[in-house]
Amino acid sequence: MSSCTPATPLPLKPVDGLVAELRGRLSGATVMRLREPLALHTTFRVGGPADIYIEPASENDLCTALRFCYEHQLPWFVLGCGSNVLVRDGGFRGMVICLANRAFSGIAIKGNRLVCGAGARLKAVSETARRLGLAGLEFMDGIPGSVGGALRMNAGAMGSWTFDMVESVRCMAPDGQTREVNRAEIQAEYRACEFFDQHIALMAVFNARPGDIAQITERIRAYRRRRRQTQPAGQSAGCIFKNPHPVPAGRLIDELGLKGARIGRAYVSSKHANFILTEPGATASDVIALIELIRKRVKAERGIELEREVRIIGQDS
Ligand code: EPU
Repeated sequence: MSSCTPATPLPLKPVDGLVAELRGRLSGATVMRLREPLALHTTFRVGGPADIYIEPASENDLCTALRFCYEHQLPWFVLGCGSNVLVRDGGFRGMVICLANRAFSGIAIKGNRLVCGAGARLKAVSETARRLGLAGLEFMDGIPGSVGGALRMNAGAMGSWTFDMVESVRCMAPDGQTREVNRAEIQAEYRACEFFDQHIALMAVFNARPGDIAQITERIRAYRRRRRQTQPAGQSAGCIFKNPHPVPAGRLIDELGLKGARIGRAYVSSKHANFILTEPGATASDVIALIELIRKRVKAERGIELEREVRIIGQDS
């Protein structure tokens, strides 16, 4: 989920005028919509619209869109499956780019390697590997994200991380230049990879290892069982906070008795205290107020500064 906000944003021209110009520069296969409700594109199901929303149909169109943003000083943001993002109620002033087109979401096999588009879903990556008897990607099954989002966040579950499996990445810089980068050149940390602040992931090569299909299938089933037992279903963005050392955020929040705490139509899960769930009618402001309430209570009572894992974009209404 790369993003770019110009250091000194110019006052925006009305986007409607800009859009005809952009449309003329993009191929007909690229989806472009104005004032697209981002609540439709995030798992929290809240938040306002993006001024311009595009799904580029090619690297060429993506490059054109980035150049357009540069020329008009428009902030841009790359959205994956929206499973780790909270959009404020006023929406995003600029362009939201989603690599959902099949040009960016394919999965190809080369020996033990899976070559995956940034828009491919992690569940599909895991399932493709399982069917072929390739091990190591089982943990991706339950993460409701895309390959691009997983790279940006170094997403992890069940003791494994995305960058454990990455061999190389193809990416685009904000000036439209593409290049291949080896794993060793990218610094990835717990739930963070700054490289993708400045680069848009286009494709990743995951290096898996041959395994027994029955064992791989059983591992996936066990992970699903564990997830069902410990994590809530429903509208959320997964864990809200990163785990501080040495106590996990879920336990900290639980110990403060905050399970079930509610603001408006957002509430803390009673199954896992590091999850905030939204009900129909919830606003991003409800969620943000609840995040603040938790953060302040944890700081005041335990002296620990919780760091958000979920990214917040856009502006208040
Ligand atoms: N715990 C509580 N109360 C709660 C929740 C958890 O006491 O309400 C305790 C658990 O009993 C356990 C400890 O806290 O002893 C850790 O909980 P859990 O095993 O559920 O894992 P977690 O650290 O909360 C992490 C990732 C999850 C990932 C799971 C499974 C983070 C912030 N979260 O959760 O990732 O799915 O491990 O591997 O690292 C995400 O990042 O969005 C996410 C869901």
